[in-house]
Amino acid sequence: MTKGSHPTGAPWRNFYGRIHGKTLRPTQKDHLEHDLDALSPGPVGWDVNPEREKLDLMGRFGDKPVWLEVGFGGGEHLVHMAKSYPEVAIIGAEPFINGVAMLLGKIRDAEVDNIAVHPGDVRDLFDVLPDGSVEKAFLNYPDPWPKARHHRRRFVTQEHLEPLFRVLSPGAEFRVATDIPDYVRQTLEEVPVAGFERVDHPDDQAWSDWPSTRYEQKALREGRRPHYLTFRRP
Ligand SMILES: C[S@@+](CC[C@H](N)C(=O)[O-])C[C@H]1O[C@@H](n2cnc3c(N)ncnc32)[C@H](O)[C@@H]1O
Repeated sequence: MTKGSHPTGAPWRNFYGRIHGKTLRPTQKDHLEHDLDALSPGPVGWDVNPEREKLDLMGRFGDKPVWLEVGFGGGEHLVHMAKSYPEVAIIGAEPFINGVAMLLGKIRDAEVDNIAVHPGDVRDLFDVLPDGSVEKAFLNYPDPWPKARHHRRRFVTQEHLEPLFRVLSPGAEFRVATDIPDYVRQTLEEVPVAGFERVDHPDDQAWSDWPSTRYEQKALREGRRPHYLTFRRP
């Protein structure tokens, strides 16, 4: 094993967020144990796909357009979108296992069948998504990392934006919702550097199909203003 890599050959990727929260309820453990396999988008992890072969999205989803949600939290937006757009397949990535468990409960309740789940870091998913394969991507209330020395941990850095750009198809939309003014600043600076164009849309106006999320509700209760930024891959 070379320094800075895993026995599987995976590169070392620092992840600073939480992976575990409160103890899971028995039903949540049961859902994690029984539902995740069938919801897999295909072999994503380095342990099951050390050669980093690209996913067979056509084999998995047929000719449905594929969308991606980064960091779906409790899954409110993901399930809402899956219900609203049954003709689309949406892959969600989220390493926080309590969030994944919440999503699985919502998928059962909503009886949607067009969601796939990567219960881990979206960077591992980027490795194996074919170039130009995703038609829309959502980044809702990403971790704010407020201290200046932590800004490089934010999603809106080239480490994340370059592979996101690569997996999006020409014309694909990339939406960012945040309540943090300095996150807006960094998004407007960094996202165009990765090649995206800003789409003209008032940043205080939610998208017409926006359902809100738990983090947005918290922001509103605490008096912070949501910003909705839209970009397009040319
Ligand atoms: C502040 S929460 C927002 C959750 C949800 N989108 C919402 O609006 O309620 C940010 C989420 O991004 C997830 N996240 C952070 N880094 C990630 C990564 N590299 N890949 C996937 N998800 C990530 C975190 O685990 C966390 O659940």
